[in-house]
Amino acid sequence: KQHENHPTLMMIFGATGDLAKRKLFPSLYKLFEKGKLTDQFAVIGVARRPLTNEEFQQSIKDSVKTAIEKEDRIEEFASHFYYHSHDVTDSASYAVLKKMANDLDEQYHLHGNRIFYLAMAPEFFGTIALHLKEDGLTDVKGYKRLVIEKPFGHDLESAKELNKQIRTAFSEKEIYRIDHYLGKEMVQNIEVIRFANAIFEPLWNNRYISNIQVTSSEILGVEERGRYYENSGALRDMVQNHMLQMVALLAMEPPIRLTTEEIRSEKVKVLRALRSIDGEDVKEFFVRGQYGAGTIDGHDVPGYREEPMVDAHSNTETFVAGKLLIDNFRWAGVPFYIRTGKRMEAKSTKIIIQFKDIPMNLYYRPEEPLNPNLLVIHIQPEEGITLHLNAKKARQNEVATPIKLNYANKGMNGYNTPESYEKLLYDCMRGDATNFTHWDEVALSWSFTDKISHVWENTVEEHFPNYAAGTMGPKCADELLEKDGFFWWPISHMAVEPC
Ligand code: BG6
Repeated sequence: KQHENHPTLMMIFGATGDLAKRKLFPSLYKLFEKGKLTDQFAVIGVARRPLTNEEFQQSIKDSVKTAIEKEDRIEEFASHFYYHSHDVTDSASYAVLKKMANDLDEQYHLHGNRIFYLAMAPEFFGTIALHLKEDGLTDVKGYKRLVIEKPFGHDLESAKELNKQIRTAFSEKEIYRIDHYLGKEMVQNIEVIRFANAIFEPLWNNRYISNIQVTSSEILGVEERGRYYENSGALRDMVQNHMLQMVALLAMEPPIRLTTEEIRSEKVKVLRALRSIDGEDVKEFFVRGQYGAGTIDGHDVPGYREEPMVDAHSNTETFVAGKLLIDNFRWAGVPFYIRTGKRMEAKSTKIIIQFKDIPMNLYYRPEEPLNPNLLVIHIQPEEGITLHLNAKKARQNEVATPIKLNYANKGMNGYNTPESYEKLLYDCMRGDATNFTHWDEVALSWSFTDKISHVWENTVEEHFPNYAAGTMGPKCADELLEKDGFFWWPISHMAVEPC
């Protein structure tokens, strides 16, 4: 199959960093290998340290080889990469970059198309954007697009400031804010499951659904990211972005067509309908946790407060569970429970949609109660869907037993792997911003989480650490559901079987 040609010059700021090496280069290689990136592309790696083009190309080859088994076209691929040692505050350095970009544009026939990818600390985003404009790098005859990584600000105020800075050089349409969860295959599948099947949509509301549970648990701790994480915590790191994005996709109305604007406008409506949780209500709707020492895979691991760059009395949460209410016709009264944390029992992201009980149970047996119907969307590590029903127990009259219909998506697992980035980078080259977050979504999400952060930052959590590494989080997270008569479905028993 012939792919469309998208001539592009990509400038990656932060090209010697972790993200570039682990995600961006392998993803670009995959696009190249699949023919989605033709010969009409060039990449300028931009970073502080001095490197020759050859040294930079060697680092590209190394990173691709670490991530990908088959790299037959690696030499050809790496020859498209160039390096510029840069000082982000110096106009002279931008002048050199501009000359380099113009030359490559001509050499590779790139039609003046430019993607600026900021894979680095956000404190420089504003400075870079301003220089790109003032030093003439955005003055191109093709398109110009800015790709930025999270965190997009630390709260609503700082996000607004950041947005103001980048908007001096790029319009909203030219800004691609990455939320890598939106690049995951099964997150993208939420829409298709909902809107390409006749059987779910009529049930997808408060008449038939009792609650929805979204879990994203990790086994890893904060590793070497203590400094960042101390200022972030799980609420900012995972809830403000990934978790709320999944909720928006689950709860939105069917868009009138599948365009970026229509889908986004439906997601924005969900975020606007989210009931704001403030002040005294916070403790009723949200709980936080911090991991202590524990055991993972039979190995002892230290608690969060013992991790490098972490305060010995840290008040930072490594776990959050919350109950969200969406005040609209479809969802009034249906709790959306979310939870996410580090150093939990399993690496797993799952969405469990629990349907209401049948009106009368004809198969009541105290020793084997009927399970409610569940639709489980397995985001990672396995990708698939399971539908939990009840059917006749073989060779027994009038006895119902749980059964599971199972669909496993073929292919790789969807961890924070190159696949998400591969899709998102390609979308950006094609100019499709559907799976990126618009400013309105960012602003609404921050205004929701800010109120919770505000309360948490002003109360010292005396019970930290309150869960042992290797467990599913603190007890208060279970109580959150128990109060409503529900419980977290044990994700370890929910596996999707390979087909
Ligand atoms: C990132 C967070 O956005 O998502 C990390 O900053 C987290 O702390 C990661 O580990 C989880 O992504 P994934 O794809 O591995 O679930």
